[in-house]
Amino acid sequence: MAEITLNWRRFMIVFGVLCCMGIIARIIYISLVAVLINRLSPRTPRNGLQDIVKSWKEPDGSDAYRFPWPEDFSRDIVPEACHSHNDYWRKVPLYEALAAGCVSIEADIWLEGNDLLVGHVKKVLKSSRTLRTLYIDPIVNILSNRNVSNTSEPIKEVGIFETDPNAAVILMLDFKTDGHDLWPVVLSQLEPLRQKGWLTYFNGIDIVPGPITVVGTGNTPFDLVVANSTYRYLFFDAPLLDISNSSYTVQNSYYASTALKPAIGRIWLRGLSRGQVNAMKIQIKAAGAKGLKSRYWDTPAWPISLRDKAWNTLVENGVGMLNIDDLISATRWNWDRCVVAGLTLCGA
Ligand SMILES: *[C@@H]1O[C@H](CO)[C@@H](O)[C@H](O)[C@H]1NC(C)=O
Ligand SMILES: *[C@@H]1O[C@H](CO)[C@@H](O)[C@H](O)[C@H]1NC(C)=O
Ligand SMILES: *[C@@H]1O[C@H](CO)[C@@H](O)[C@H](O)[C@H]1NC(C)=O
Ligand SMILES: *[C@@H]1O[C@H](CO)[C@@H](O)[C@H](O)[C@H]1NC(C)=O
Repeated sequence: MAEITLNWRRFMIVFGVLCCMGIIARIIYISLVAVLINRLSPRTPRNGLQDIVKSWKEPDGSDAYRFPWPEDFSRDIVPEACHSHNDYWRKVPLYEALAAGCVSIEADIWLEGNDLLVGHVKKVLKSSRTLRTLYIDPIVNILSNRNVSNTSEPIKEVGIFETDPNAAVILMLDFKTDGHDLWPVVLSQLEPLRQKGWLTYFNGIDIVPGPITVVGTGNTPFDLVVANSTYRYLFFDAPLLDISNSSYTVQNSYYASTALKPAIGRIWLRGLSRGQVNAMKIQIKAAGAKGLKSRYWDTPAWPISLRDKAWNTLVENGVGMLNIDDLISATRWNWDRCVVAGLTLCGA
């Protein structure tokens, strides 16, 4: 009987010591991860755009959200060749992408009555979330407050981004309903931007750059894009896999895009194969030779290490624009430090 009690006590002591050690190890591990994240996390620059992102409110239906104009609007933001995929899904449309330095922004538009509603599927559309309230009005507000150089000024002195006055912002409109019905409404909504000379246009000979370039995708009707041979300010998102078609030129298109899988096949965990990289190089080059920017959507999102490998491969091979969902990981993190020793440190 005494022996059993002794064994039991020994067991309890060993168990207690092991538990303590486990707890200590856990605390050390958690603090190490916290230190790593803290050390490697990119700093958020302080500027007006960040303040707007913090205080932004949903448009109330009659007007774009207004805020006191910050003088340091885009201070220290370096514009980057990234495309904010389904931008309207973010907590703060437009401004979050600009604050990250992404120069391309995507909005899905639906013709409902006489207005253009923005959303991914028809069911979630709201009458207060329109192309005007979420994008056009805020862009007009930014360009007028910054006195941004328009198309008639060959040497641009002021742009949206303080660090690069020549950086244009691409507004990509994904036409969700019938393209021919949408077309006149889209053009009329772009009027405030066009009248001020803020839209990049084709004059029959050259592209005249402005602070905003509008690109149509989805049901955008190519026949209407090219209908006027001397004046265009809505450019096409050409199919990258059909880019040898002589119809697509820099005079009517801006992007040449494709989903990744049909372009190079399935991607496995170890990243892109040599054959896949070569195929991609040829596609990117073909778009570049026509003066178009290549863009791949549906690139791997998970696991993060694979996502970052794919991003690295695309950028190393000169992709025109990186299509992204996670703005902060894409623009501020050093991608090689996103995953350290199997730990994912940057946003999912
Ligand atoms: C923009 O121009 C207006 C009128 O010319 C001027 O009052 C304002 O200070 C300018 N703003 C900036 C940011 O230069
Ligand atoms: C473009 O900017 C110039 C110089 O600031 C100005 O004179 C001109 O009126 C502007 N054009 C338009 C269409 O607003
Ligand atoms: C093209 O656009 C210009 C400027 O709006 C206009 O004057 C011209 O008539 C248009 N041409 C055609 C063929 O529609
Ligand atoms: C080239 O593209 C145009 C415009 O989309 C299309 O109408 C035409 O059929 C295409 N040509 C070929 C050979 O695929």
